[in-house]
Amino acid sequence: MMTRTATAIAHPNIAFIKYWGNTNDALRLPANASLSMNLDGLQAETTLTWADDLSADTLVLNDAEQSGEPLQRVVRQLDIMRKRLGLTAHAQVVSKNNFPTGAGVASSAAAFAALTVAAAGASGQVLSEQELTTLARLGSGSASRSVPAGFVEWFAGDSHEASYAESFAQPSHWPLVDVIAVISDGHKRVGSTAGHKSAQTSIFQEARVADAAARFAACRRAVVERDFNTFAEVVERDSNLMHAVMMTSVPPLFYWEPQSLAVMSWVRDRRADGLSVCYTLDAGPNVHCLCLEKDAEAVRSGLVGMSGLKQVYMAAVGGPAHLV
Ligand code: PMV
Repeated sequence: MMTRTATAIAHPNIAFIKYWGNTNDALRLPANASLSMNLDGLQAETTLTWADDLSADTLVLNDAEQSGEPLQRVVRQLDIMRKRLGLTAHAQVVSKNNFPTGAGVASSAAAFAALTVAAAGASGQVLSEQELTTLARLGSGSASRSVPAGFVEWFAGDSHEASYAESFAQPSHWPLVDVIAVISDGHKRVGSTAGHKSAQTSIFQEARVADAAARFAACRRAVVERDFNTFAEVVERDSNLMHAVMMTSVPPLFYWEPQSLAVMSWVRDRRADGLSVCYTLDAGPNVHCLCLEKDAEAVRSGLVGMSGLKQVYMAAVGGPAHLV
């Protein structure tokens, strides 16, 4: 009997230039290239055991045995990994997040990055980082960006192999901090897999995608040159464009809560006062306040004083998904 175990840790990431909508839903080939940073301190830790004597794959997430769709999504990823690694064994997967699942902190990104790296690691085979990003992408598009370190770009690509992610700057390049205003820690009403499929129903998606390469280039350059003001303008515009598409899809997707808007407006006021801070929101109500490290404490204490926030997290720029 063969059993092999590995544990992997991966961080969620926050996109500066968003991924929303696919050109190929099955392969999760995105409509546009995206950019992100990994979130240090927040993590999924996944232990995976390939065992010949298991009769089915099992998943324990945050101490609870899973069934139904959460398990099936992991089984589909394990099928992909079995095929790539030449394995027939089933797997026992035990995973823990230290942040809330499904609330605009991309738990699926960290989860599928950790699962993919653990599955390869437990097989004893060494896959390139680039290939790991493509395999993680099949589980959750944004998971491709949680594999490499620091500041990451994911090229849209027109094939499985061409749609990969890589670092363009290490965590030490720029001391950005994501101060996350948690407005709801409940589960998303409409998950991103369904959301990507509905993006084309908004008449604004075509315009959002047409201008995405220009925003991507401007944002990448702003990060490389550590130009916060340019960064802030393009990051907020990109988030607003994605939410405009969401709100005008059929049926519409409204992820913002009144409190999200209050935080966004507070962030813009503080920037006008001279703090280096801007906002971005994923498919949830939480507001990610991206700021320079020197202003992180002022941003955090300001948010803590606002009503209606469940929690405030702080995350610096994180490293790559890795085996432990
Ligand atoms: O990887 P998914 O399918 O969970 O999609 C992520 C979508 C956003 O978080 C809204 C944007 C992004 O680029 O991370």
